Amino acid sequence: MCGIVGAIAQREVSEILIEGLKKLEYRGYDSAGVAVVDSEGKLTRVRRLGKVKELADAVDEMHTMGGTGIAHTRWATHGEPSEANAHPHVSANISIVHNGIIENHEPLRALLQERGYIFNSQTDTEVIAHLVEWELRSSASLREAVQKTVLQLEGAYGMVALDSHDPSRLVVARSGSPLVIGHGIGENFLASDQLALLNVTRRFTYLEEGDVAEITRREVAIFDKTGNAIEREMVESNVEQDAGSKGKYRHFMQKEIFEQPSALISALEGRINDDSIVVESIGNGAKEILAKVQHVQIIACGTSYNSGMAARYWFESLAGVSCDVEIASEFRYRDFVVRPNSLLLTLSQSGETADTLAALRLAKEKGYMSAMSICNVSGSSLVRESDLAFMTRAGTEIGVASTKAFTTQLAAMLILVTAIGKEQGTIKPEKEAEIVKSLHSLPAQIEKALEFDKKIEALAADFADKHHTLFLGRGEYYPIAMEAALKVKEISYIHAEAYAAGELKHGPLALVDADMPVVVVAPNNDLLEKLKSNVEEVRARGGLLYVFADENSGFEPCDGMKIISLPHVDPIIAPIFHTVPMQLLSYHIALIKGTDVDQPRNLAKAVTVE
Ligand code: AGP
Ligand code: GLU
Repeated sequence: MCGIVGAIAQREVSEILIEGLKKLEYRGYDSAGVAVVDSEGKLTRVRRLGKVKELADAVDEMHTMGGTGIAHTRWATHGEPSEANAHPHVSANISIVHNGIIENHEPLRALLQERGYIFNSQTDTEVIAHLVEWELRSSASLREAVQKTVLQLEGAYGMVALDSHDPSRLVVARSGSPLVIGHGIGENFLASDQLALLNVTRRFTYLEEGDVAEITRREVAIFDKTGNAIEREMVESNVEQDAGSKGKYRHFMQKEIFEQPSALISALEGRINDDSIVVESIGNGAKEILAKVQHVQIIACGTSYNSGMAARYWFESLAGVSCDVEIASEFRYRDFVVRPNSLLLTLSQSGETADTLAALRLAKEKGYMSAMSICNVSGSSLVRESDLAFMTRAGTEIGVASTKAFTTQLAAMLILVTAIGKEQGTIKPEKEAEIVKSLHSLPAQIEKALEFDKKIEALAADFADKHHTLFLGRGEYYPIAMEAALKVKEISYIHAEAYAAGELKHGPLALVDADMPVVVVAPNNDLLEKLKSNVEEVRARGGLLYVFADENSGFEPCDGMKIISLPHVDPIIAPIFHTVPMQLLSYHIALIKGTDVDQPRNLAKAVTVE
């Protein structure tokens, strides 16, 4: 589920492939490999466990030459991370790179072994290499062999096949794992993400589910799942070329935290006027759907799920529309009841999360009124398969730990909620104007939150030697606490739990002692007095408290309780504002712990497998 890059050109392609892999490093991987063929048909394959840098050094040393090549970063699903399991996998003259999982690899392996194939890896991918080799023996072309192969595969794949006996073409196939073709002049490219190719082209064609394509230097021929030749739209990319660079920042995560004011400006642009929401900006036909919607079912994973949990409060309290939020991997495997006039809303930074996509596909069959996605990557599978797509426009997010995608999702949902309320008459023009005013102030308020960076950095040392942390919030701040706990887990590897503060006394209070810092998200809202009682419950048991409090909330520092006094922010946008200090806290804890902030262990940026 990590990275694929391919190139076919008159020039040497190794460097293009390696540069492409570097752009995909942020997705998380454990090994990398490349195979190139020169015009004489000589194949050179290099694979390394560890970072792309090591692969790049080996490729340099070996003077790897050739105009046709494929490359891969692997995130192991079948077989340990090792050089032998790294892609490309080879069967005689066939080399394969693959993202995804072949679910029926065991029977296929047995069948191929009966046919005399010897396996050199533990991967599911190797069956593809042998199958293509087998099918090519009775096929007129590599494309035909790949088409016969994919009919036998169950599971998810984005794959590329290279035949060293015919380096004039590459054949790619997509089912469940994204692939994009990059068009050059007299040369062509492919990758699992356009970011890998922005140095060589800005013209792209996204493959659809079931597509197989044959790519030569001059032509790209695409065939749909039934084998018919098909035209797919070519699009010009508007992603910034330096999206993959850290600029003055030490980590992508830090850059992305600090980019939030500008990310929010672009998320809001054209969607709000001085005092009203531009409902049309939500998409063609959105107005009619929003006027009818009686229930919203949000589906997402991880951070995107947390943003859905926070927005649920807005759907119900502002627009008066009922809302459920469910983790995609649970939703897709249960029998659910679709309420009348329900909108299915998927949330995703990448738009490629396998569980979220599967839930969308399943739900579409079950009679939802419409399927909408809120997403950060245009052209992603989720965007293409949803009836309506509302883009968060946060800009490319590279850090595995999601930050600006979360806050822009929240801003997008506040716009959506207001649009629903406006269309249904539950949000009156005065309230609409109030929400819009609050949204206009958001980027500047986030700037203010970022000014707390140094103060928060100073606190982080208190957490770095701890093994557990508790995050507390109430109401829409409970999901903000959930998101804070997820960030801490992901990048500092400290066990962190979020609790709705009122739930503390029902169990987790037993954990409280001086070794477990308790962080409280404390805005000044209707639940403040209740929250104060919960804080007292912790203090009375010797817990160490860190209260991120609105300056008007009346919290005073005392023994066992540090107060981080934050400026008062309009309650409508305050959950978004209060997210930022939590992001900074997790970042600084991870810095002290010396973890790999942008590529935390065991994680991948886009989880394109189940
Ligand atoms: C966020 O910090 C995580 N890395 C992860 O939970 C992520 O939010 C989740 O995998 C969903 O991804 P998506 O938004 O791209 O669908
Ligand atoms: N399932 C394959 C493997 O384990 C592909 C993994 C990936 O997508 O990186 O090798």
